[in-house]
Amino acid sequence: MAKERKITISVIKADVGGFVGHSSFHPALLDTAKEKLNNAKGKEVIVDFHVMRCGDDLELIMTHEKGCDDKTIHELAWNIFAACTEVAKELKLYGAGQDLLKDAFTGTVKGMGPCVAEMEFVERKSEPIIVFMADKTSSGAWNLPLYKIFGDPFNTAGLIIDPSMIEGFCFNVLDVKKGESITLSCPEESYYLLALIGATDRYMVSSVYRKKDKEITAVASTQRLSLIAGKYVGKDDPVMIVRCQSGLPAVGEVLEAFSFPHLVQGWMRGSHHGPLMPVPFYEANPTRFDGPPRVIAAGFQITNGRLIGPHDMFDDPSFDETRKKANHVAEYMRRHGPFQPHRLPLEEMEYTTLPQVLEKLKDRFEKQ
Ligand code: 13P
Ligand code: 13P
Ligand code: MG
Ligand code: MG
Repeated sequence: MAKERKITISVIKADVGGFVGHSSFHPALLDTAKEKLNNAKGKEVIVDFHVMRCGDDLELIMTHEKGCDDKTIHELAWNIFAACTEVAKELKLYGAGQDLLKDAFTGTVKGMGPCVAEMEFVERKSEPIIVFMADKTSSGAWNLPLYKIFGDPFNTAGLIIDPSMIEGFCFNVLDVKKGESITLSCPEESYYLLALIGATDRYMVSSVYRKKDKEITAVASTQRLSLIAGKYVGKDDPVMIVRCQSGLPAVGEVLEAFSFPHLVQGWMRGSHHGPLMPVPFYEANPTRFDGPPRVIAAGFQITNGRLIGPHDMFDDPSFDETRKKANHVAEYMRRHGPFQPHRLPLEEMEYTTLPQVLEKLKDRFEKQ
């Protein structure tokens, strides 16, 4: 029997320089990235690609046949980020090369600053996928929508209606502080799952698969820049890939999980809680207090490895109320100014410049 062709989709992103400040992206960098990926496609290193940006983050969406964690693909992405950084430096864009935390490529972009989400599968008869990209937030932002999509029948009707889904889904969860993973099976372990992933700064859903046949259905980036750099260098601004339909949650069930603008970490200086606002591509330019945090959703049909799309999934008035609510919540949170819970708790501020400010007071404390 002929071996089934496996396709890998790799979404690798980095902030290589913002325009203006951290709000948006300069077209010259998009052109550089497209040209390089076009070359790679010409040489058949990749099957197809699409270059996008969300806020100040450059998003490389690639399909290929090399599997996950492939050195050639990661090196390609790294070199593109490095080339774009050079352009960003010439234009003196803000924070040129912000997320490139290491000097030389060493086999994988993991641990070097960029965020990565990759999955390998045999294409189904029809393969709808959605690539989610966020700005001004961190990886834990996907925990709540992932739970709703794959664990909550109040969000996903298919969990109770579709015989392929009724057994549920398994969630791989990473403890980012300890570097350990655990797999939890839902619905029976959903309380254990929520006990962990409700702590969005520490436990992150890294992938989800369908229980009945272990088919991979979602992968999320889990990189935390501050843990790599040991200091605040910008937020992680994560990405996620979700496969949809035919025994998996429908496109509309996946998107429904974003109809509630839940509070996430990020926003100004990566130091605040704010609502995650789902927006069309052209509205992913966070400016109010560098926010509020944004998420965009690019829909594709994968066809023999080709990326047919993107379709701008949040460009729909049915998300207007969500955006309105996000603006109300943003205003409410902003009125707290420097107070928690708008400002992140001290433990999360460890990586920012706040400790340097507190240092100035240290000799003035007196024992009581
Ligand atoms: P599928 O089962 O073909 O994915 O369709 C479900 C559906 O119609 C979603 O609204
Ligand atoms: P980014 O992580 O998107 O670069 O934002 C950093 C920041 O400090 C925003 O105020
Ligand atoms: Mg930036
Ligand atoms: Mg960003």
